[in-house]
Amino acid sequence: MKETSVWQGERREYPVLKENIEREIAVIGGGIAGFLTAFCLAEEGRQVVLIEADRLFSGTTGKTTAKVTCNQGNVYADLSRRYGKDVAALYYRSQRDGMQKIAALAEKYKIECDWTETDSYIFSSEAFEQLKESFSVLREAGADCEWVGKVKEVRAKCALKMGKQFLFDPLKFLTSLPVHFEIYEHTRAVKIDAAAKRIMTDRACISAKTIVVATHYPIVNSHGWYFMKLRQSTSYTLAVKERLVDAMYLDEKEDGLSLRPYAGGTLIGGEDHRTGRVGDGGHFQRLEESAKRLFGEVTVTHRWCAEDVMTFDGLPMAGKYAHGLDGVYVVTGFQKWGMANSAVCADLLTDLVAGRKNDYAALFSPQRKIYDSFGDFCSNALVNVAGLFAGYLGIPLKTSADVPLDEGMVVWHEGKRRAVYRDRDGKLYVIGSRCAHMGCELQWNADTHTWDCPCHGSRYDVYGNILAEPTTKRDQ
Ligand code: FES
Repeated sequence: MKETSVWQGERREYPVLKENIEREIAVIGGGIAGFLTAFCLAEEGRQVVLIEADRLFSGTTGKTTAKVTCNQGNVYADLSRRYGKDVAALYYRSQRDGMQKIAALAEKYKIECDWTETDSYIFSSEAFEQLKESFSVLREAGADCEWVGKVKEVRAKCALKMGKQFLFDPLKFLTSLPVHFEIYEHTRAVKIDAAAKRIMTDRACISAKTIVVATHYPIVNSHGWYFMKLRQSTSYTLAVKERLVDAMYLDEKEDGLSLRPYAGGTLIGGEDHRTGRVGDGGHFQRLEESAKRLFGEVTVTHRWCAEDVMTFDGLPMAGKYAHGLDGVYVVTGFQKWGMANSAVCADLLTDLVAGRKNDYAALFSPQRKIYDSFGDFCSNALVNVAGLFAGYLGIPLKTSADVPLDEGMVVWHEGKRRAVYRDRDGKLYVIGSRCAHMGCELQWNADTHTWDCPCHGSRYDVYGNILAEPTTKRDQ
């Protein structure tokens, strides 16, 4: 079994940025959102440079289940209650546009990316009032969907079904698009002087009139206060040899099962939780057990986890980074729906940079007023404060001698609070216990053998190397 996603394969490498440069537009982040934004801007004749801290598409884009669909379940009921049916309908149209944009690009450039039309089901096995409400909101918005009783494939009571939705291979798609802009890999933005429009990377500086921050989770803390408005969610995926379903399925519960066919087999996702709140682990095992309960024996070939950035109202954020900060843009918060949303947001940012109107500018504005979010805001703030104090309060009673084989713990080590992992041979790997982003205490994730931050979702390997933003520095 491989501990990687099924999408990671051979692909072209790009150089590291070693010299200072000046360009018209700099895009930070080489996931699907940053890449498509750079692509759209370059198509308009702009001079664009894109930098990526690791390899292109090595973050959430390379770990997605790659469903390109408007069928996003309860989001429509949530939006309708929060902002009204018109806003929910507008969001539906945005997703339809995003889906069509990816299809149009694949067709225009004759990209073989396993583009497959299929049905999409959001199913429910318990209460389903919210899902039913989404169904009626979607019908009013003109969506071609239906309500079905009993979904025997997943033994569910009912489902919201939408036809003509799509699956694809995101890396085949993205790596086949023509690249008419500059790309640098292994080039991490460590600091952004937003006012001076300068990006400091690990080896050089970029000056640009326009900066787009597409780093999954925004990395600039001094503007926009994104660290108070976003959280990250970790989910787990298995690839199994057996073909269990012929359409895409998703349980309406936040931590429920997600299924889609892939090659001759199936991708099974789920077990979502706030990043850094790992409990006792066992997420992959529980996922496999759930699949076995539904379908019998399965043979796991790959397994991996991914992180998604969540907003309080379920809408992405794409637009100006902050009030009064001209020429700096952000794109983030796709929840679990990054494919269609990336395409919509790439067009939106391209329009904003060009000074054009866009139908979705207000809907996705990072400065929008988020109604009914006081409870979410407070609970998010509490988690952040608790994570911060945990790193300073008390001396751990345990020392590195207490760390069992193949486990990680925060312990007292050489007079300091440290995050310590002991490998199967007994060797210790010691890093700082506080996240370099804003100082919250790291938590050991036994499933992925990583140190995860419960506050904003940064992740580190056992050596202290960064696996996920918002941190731009190694462990402290
Ligand atoms: Fe913000 Fe760790 S991610 S403190």
